Amino acid sequence: MLFYRFWDILIVVSTTLAALWIPIQLGSQYSIGDNLFFLDWAIMLIFILDIPINFFRSRQTRGRSVLAKRRAAGHYLKGWFIVDLLAAFPFQLVFGLPIFQLFRLIKLARIAVLFHHRRRSPIRHSTLFRLSTFFFWLGLVTHWLSCGWLELSAAAAVPEASRTYLRALYWCVTTLTTVGYGDITPLTNAQTIYTMFVMVLGVGMYGYIIGNVANLLANVDMARAHYLSNMERLSTFLKYRNIPVPLQKQIYDYYAYLWEHRMGYDESTVLSQLPAALQSEVSIVLKQDYIEKIPFLKGAYQELIRDMAFELRPVVFTPGTYVFRAGDIGRHLYFINHGQVEVIAADGKTIYNTLKDGDFFGEIALLSSRPRTASVRTLDYCDMYTIDRDTFEKVLSHYPDFAKHVKEIAKTRLEKDS
Ligand code: CMP
Repeated sequence: MLFYRFWDILIVVSTTLAALWIPIQLGSQYSIGDNLFFLDWAIMLIFILDIPINFFRSRQTRGRSVLAKRRAAGHYLKGWFIVDLLAAFPFQLVFGLPIFQLFRLIKLARIAVLFHHRRRSPIRHSTLFRLSTFFFWLGLVTHWLSCGWLELSAAAAVPEASRTYLRALYWCVTTLTTVGYGDITPLTNAQTIYTMFVMVLGVGMYGYIIGNVANLLANVDMARAHYLSNMERLSTFLKYRNIPVPLQKQIYDYYAYLWEHRMGYDESTVLSQLPAALQSEVSIVLKQDYIEKIPFLKGAYQELIRDMAFELRPVVFTPGTYVFRAGDIGRHLYFINHGQVEVIAADGKTIYNTLKDGDFFGEIALLSSRPRTASVRTLDYCDMYTIDRDTFEKVLSHYPDFAKHVKEIAKTRLEKDS
């Protein structure tokens, strides 16, 4: 729901603000200004409102029955309610100690869960989202460590508050990233111990950052990475098995074509991983352009189109290859999506015809159970769809109009050839 989305964003923003300003104003150098005092009240109000909102939300998301709702409400009261209550409770007003404000930061657990759920949902820019959440947490930790340093070096503070903070942040970043220029060094024992702690933390974080960011960046273009790794495996195989160079070139050309036209994806593999109902919907969308190209399917029944689309299997042929030769046993019917083929007589010389986008061939052998009457050779890259004999027969028996049309075409072709 749109309201809940907006509310989640508001919670993330207000919790982040609390996580930034509460540690900073707890230090001895910064007193609460009027504006920040107002901010504290605003954040507390939002956190208080969050309790009933979360309560009703949990009831809505956990099924519709009364029992499910009641169970969901109980679940919330036993779990997240405690966290929400602790974060919203006006401890400072009741007990008077500012340190209690740190309880507000408990709300960060909620943000962590929110990010986690969102990361698991298949959103489109998930890599970008993971990178952003990663830098979000990194930024917060750096800020807290800088606040710690600020507190420890309170005596040496320069009069300008923003500059003091900037210097502390600078110290923290150089120490965490293991750069350590050494222009700001620990003077007291407490500072020295703190510096060692941040250094050790920095080494761990540095390794984590390098590993994660490199991994995330490598995954930005998954399709390309997948394609390149496949190509490398293929090239090793071709060399290992001593495949002749011209044939290797043909294979590489084929994959280059697949990459350019389909980003290297094999449609049938992608489709086979979907549930059956979705498969037919997606097949229709994928093959829509093609189906519109076939003249005799234009006025066909929607059911025929649906059945055909589901059964059409994509194949690609490189230029100059034989799809089949005269005399072969016929197992498939071919529809041309892109490209041109020539139909060559059994003598290997006479060209019966040239077929192009939207045409089909291979029906005679399937209709009359005899060998292929001619050879078919591609003239350029050919993107085609095939259906097997069983499906073809099924479609013919279900749709007599379509069967009649195909038989007529086969008859005309045979007459022409003889
Ligand atoms: P089939 O005999 O199974 O295999 C060769 C195919 O070439 C044949 O089916 C027809 O689909 C096709 N074919 C044969 N003659 C012609 C023609 N004159 N024009 C177009 N296609 C043809």
